Amino acid sequence: MDFTTKLSQLIAQVETALDQLVPVHTGNETGPARIHEAMRYSLQAGGKRLRPVFVLASAELLKPVATAHALPAAVAVECLHTYSLVHDDLPCMDNDDLRRGRPTAHKQFDEATALLAGDALLTHAFLLLSTHYAAEPRLATALVRELADAAGGDRLVGGQMQDLLSEKKADATAAELEFIHLNKTAAMLEASLVMGGLVGGTDDISLVTLRTAGRHLGLAFQIIDDVLDATADSATLGKTAGKDAKSGKTTYVSLHGIAAARRMAKEQTNAALAAIRSLPGDTSFLLQLAQSMLGRAK
Ligand code: IPE
Ligand code: IPE
Ligand code: MG
Ligand code: MG
Ligand code: MG
Repeated sequence: MDFTTKLSQLIAQVETALDQLVPVHTGNETGPARIHEAMRYSLQAGGKRLRPVFVLASAELLKPVATAHALPAAVAVECLHTYSLVHDDLPCMDNDDLRRGRPTAHKQFDEATALLAGDALLTHAFLLLSTHYAAEPRLATALVRELADAAGGDRLVGGQMQDLLSEKKADATAAELEFIHLNKTAAMLEASLVMGGLVGGTDDISLVTLRTAGRHLGLAFQIIDDVLDATADSATLGKTAGKDAKSGKTTYVSLHGIAAARRMAKEQTNAALAAIRSLPGDTSFLLQLAQSMLGRAK
């Protein structure tokens, strides 16, 4: 099967699973439908589904794994990622109006609803892991631990904190910028590859390599995100272009310029490809996926 067909197939599986594994208000509950509507609004607005696809692809690296086995982990990762976007867009954070080609959650609903929908998506990720892998307690614990570690104050949330602290900072350093990227973005890419590996029964050495690949891919991914913010238009991105310069964010573009940022993204991608090549199993899809991220338009 060629790369594009396989990618579309995996994305379609993720979309179906998102619909099945995220709560829907049936009308029989006593609680408010609004929270479920807001959760689904942000989740189902589209998005590249890159992280859940990485979970599925890394799960089947060594041997075919029943997709049904890997999908709850993939959906958990997408729920967590989507929560981070909903909160990232809030007026107290990046104050964005457009996300995934639609009004942001707080514009469509209101700030409190967006905050709560984010809280609920974050929590739902851990409910999915602890429920769907309950028959394999060691796997369930490892998945919960991996995702919690990636999402917590030392990683995603810590990176978001530093991102805000570095706004409008004239003396931001390259080390600060690397901390931001490693944590606000690379942590979740690492977790996606590692969680896939855990579901697929990958050995410990390969898990370390998957983490290395995820870290490089995550750095490349955020550098490209910064470049696209400065070079693409809002209609293509589905989010507001030119936002970073306007908010005085510390980015690879603000610190190093566009040409150097592109070069650095390529270096990080090459490092990720080298790590993936050293893995056992059929790495062809992962290699093509990693490569395709460098040339993405949104
Ligand atoms: C956006 O992530 C946030 C960053 C870490 C740069 P994506 O570019 O993967 O957003 P979606 O999921 O496709 O909307
Ligand atoms: C966001 O970085 C990373 C997370 C949401 C954790 P950005 O603020 O650059 O993401 P976009 O550009 O709004 O998607
Ligand atoms: Mg941000
Ligand atoms: Mg933002
Ligand atoms: Mg950005």
